[in-house]
Amino acid sequence: MEIPTKQQKVVQVAKGLPADVLRIVDVPVERPAPGSGDILVQVRAVAFNHLWKLMPVIPAFLRKLPAVPEIELAGVIADPGESAFATGDEVLGFVPPNALSSDRGALAQYVLMKAIHVVRKPAALSWEAASGLTCSGLTAARALSLFDTRPKKGLRILVAGASSALGRTAIQIAKGQGAYVVASCSAASAEGVRALGADEILDYTASPLPQQLATAYPYDKARPSESPLALDLIIDCIGADPKLYTQSPAYLAKDGVFVQPGIDTSGGALKTGWHLAHAKWYPGCWAGGVPRTFRFFSVQVADGESLERELAELAGWTQDGTLRMEIDSVHTFDRAGVMTAYERVMSGKARGKVVVRVS
Ligand SMILES: NC(=O)c1ccc[n+]([C@@H]2O[C@H](COP(=O)([O-])OP(=O)(O)OC[C@H]3O[C@@H](n4cnc5c(N)ncnc54)[C@H](OP(=O)(O)O)[C@@H]3O)[C@@H](O)[C@H]2O)c1
Repeated sequence: MEIPTKQQKVVQVAKGLPADVLRIVDVPVERPAPGSGDILVQVRAVAFNHLWKLMPVIPAFLRKLPAVPEIELAGVIADPGESAFATGDEVLGFVPPNALSSDRGALAQYVLMKAIHVVRKPAALSWEAASGLTCSGLTAARALSLFDTRPKKGLRILVAGASSALGRTAIQIAKGQGAYVVASCSAASAEGVRALGADEILDYTASPLPQQLATAYPYDKARPSESPLALDLIIDCIGADPKLYTQSPAYLAKDGVFVQPGIDTSGGALKTGWHLAHAKWYPGCWAGGVPRTFRFFSVQVADGESLERELAELAGWTQDGTLRMEIDSVHTFDRAGVMTAYERVMSGKARGKVVVRVS
């Protein structure tokens, strides 16, 4: 493969909205340095995530600018460095968010990244689907396993915000592990969510979801053994309604776990900041807390941590039919395409992954 000396990257030059602060620039293509563990990937597709919506509340010192946005991609190995990959291997991978304070984000024609953060792309998986597998896949798989180590077979799991990319992924992984899945989404999204295998669907727009859950899946603390419908695990993929947790003793069993990987960013910087603080500190701090385990998390990857096992598992699930990535829309790698993609992500209405096709 011939590697050019120059490439185009999308660069964020300041804090602000994409249209104001993103530039497409020509920069040199860097090559893996000996001993770095790096590979060079020629990018085919990049799936977009919500980090952008969090930008207004991330203090400047935590995010060095200029920076290249986005964290998940699929592409072809252009230079394998000292890794076991060969030039031309097709891969999918994850750029840990901590790498975004450098210029190593995914939205570029070529990305220098760690070999331990990519795996081979299954041949049958499209570039678009492969690009969107890792972030919601890692998040959903960890949400299901990190804080609740019980086998999922027969467990009653609520996936709230089920029509988000994260929710869609969580439903399929939970079903693949034998769980009984209740999903909440709007009526407009219900058909697509049911097609992913959800056993029951609740319309969160019809009436307050906590009330619906207390009626359909009651937990009676005086007679726990007579509460067979109560939920065992709740994964809140949107995080827009704090009452979903505070009222959970009415429908989440006493040994149940509430996991929140989603942060609602729809109300602007102040509200998002409030939600972040709330998600982190509410449960234990105020008024004695709520008597249910609460865990807020986002995917953190330590320097040098290999994602090989987890990514290979996700790729395997796409091959055995457990998991299919839902694509909301595909956009071009130019200013107009990138802006439209960000508008779609920030609309909060995407039904699956928003993808930019780079080459
Ligand atoms: N996607 C990832 O890889 C990933 C990874 C880590 C964390 N997260 C977090 O997960 C959250 C979701 O992100 P996403 O990219 O997967 O999806 P998204 O694009 O935010 O999902 C949009 C969908 O969510 C539904 N929705 C919107 N507002 C809702 C509300 N108040 N209650 C319930 N559902 C609502 C809408 O469908 P309906 O109203 O039609 O049901 C909409 O189609 C974000 O907070 C993000 O930070 C995502």
